[in-house]
Amino acid sequence: MVLINDEMRAVFEKVKVFSVATATRDGTPNVAPIATVQFQGNDEVWLGDNYMKKTLANARDNPKMAIFGWDPDAKKCYQLKGQVEIRTEGAEYEQMRAKMKAKNEAYPAKSLLILRVEEVYSCTPGAGAGDRIA
Ligand SMILES: Cc1cc2nc3c(=O)[nH]c(=O)nc-3n(C[C@H](O)[C@H](O)[C@H](O)COP(=O)(O)O)c2cc1C
Repeated sequence: MVLINDEMRAVFEKVKVFSVATATRDGTPNVAPIATVQFQGNDEVWLGDNYMKKTLANARDNPKMAIFGWDPDAKKCYQLKGQVEIRTEGAEYEQMRAKMKAKNEAYPAKSLLILRVEEVYSCTPGAGAGDRIA
């Protein structure tokens, strides 16, 4: 099933910095600005970890994540939610590490977080806002 379609991808590709939401096991929320974000296929989002602390701890303890993308020109907004996995080795990690190091060699490139998208919602204001669409 296609979760992230071309229209959604076009919105996400315009976002410069994502608000990345996680929570502790007991439900304390956290939101962090993350710029190194790559959309992979129809249902994965890769996030480069240089300096994550609470986000990383939450991903370990309660592996769920949500992000949204808003395109002010198209006036479209989508929320993605799913399970997150942490990688510190392997081909996918090496790919993200190379991307981070290419941006700035000083980046520690500690890990790759892979968000496996399970739910997509519209957050475009108006009729249908908040509805699950995939
Ligand atoms: C504009 C902007 C972009 C950022 N991009 C990243 C990023 O791609 N990866 C990263 O690990 N930290 C990035 N950071 C730094 C994290 O947001 C920062 O380390 C923050 O403390 C992480 O939140 P946490 O400690 O709650 O996990 C960025 C910060 C800003 C302001």
